[in-house]
Amino acid sequence: MVSSSDSLSRINLCQAHPALAKLLQRAYSGEKAAAFAYIGHAKSLRDPAEKAAIQEIEADEWEHRRHVLALLQQYRVPVSRGYELQFHLIGTLIAWACYVIGWFMPYYFAGRLESGNVCEYFVMMQAFHSLGIKEHDALLYEMGMKEKAHEAYFLEKIAAHPWLPIFSAVFRWDRGHSFNDVTLDQVVPVSESVRYCEHYPSSLHMRC
Ligand SMILES: [Fe+2]
Ligand SMILES: [Fe+2]
Repeated sequence: MVSSSDSLSRINLCQAHPALAKLLQRAYSGEKAAAFAYIGHAKSLRDPAEKAAIQEIEADEWEHRRHVLALLQQYRVPVSRGYELQFHLIGTLIAWACYVIGWFMPYYFAGRLESGNVCEYFVMMQAFHSLGIKEHDALLYEMGMKEKAHEAYFLEKIAAHPWLPIFSAVFRWDRGHSFNDVTLDQVVPVSESVRYCEHYPSSLHMRC
């Protein structure tokens, strides 16, 4: 006998929810770009503690990529060769840039990017729920919260930097301007977290 959860896990996501399939493909490749960028960022730093912290974040991104790959495989969504190439180039470019743009900018733009990544995983949760699938909630919650922790780490590093007000005015990210509504001092449990990011723009309009 096939249970409903078995049949749900065997659906073809490209047909059932093309936008979610696309979001997973993009997240998988985006995690590689992030990991590449952090390799360059860590190498460009002199302080051993700062270097180790960035390497830890890099390891988180590789772990996210493994988790997203498992989801792609479970729902028979192919890895996008286009995204793989595109994000490979982006990650490599950012890694090189870290050597020439000084100390502040890699921290600022990493934090800004992480801020936007948080919602991707909660939006995925909402999309899975629309298909009646809740078995990935804990994993998606964990990844979304990890991205939030990354954002908080980068913000903390540059909070007192004199350039922050200028960059904040131009690029619209700092302690008061986030691209998500997750707050680490008032976290909600997994069961309520699907309401995170409901009012933030997402990539769910994309097609597989
Ligand atoms: Fe990540
Ligand atoms: Fe991250």
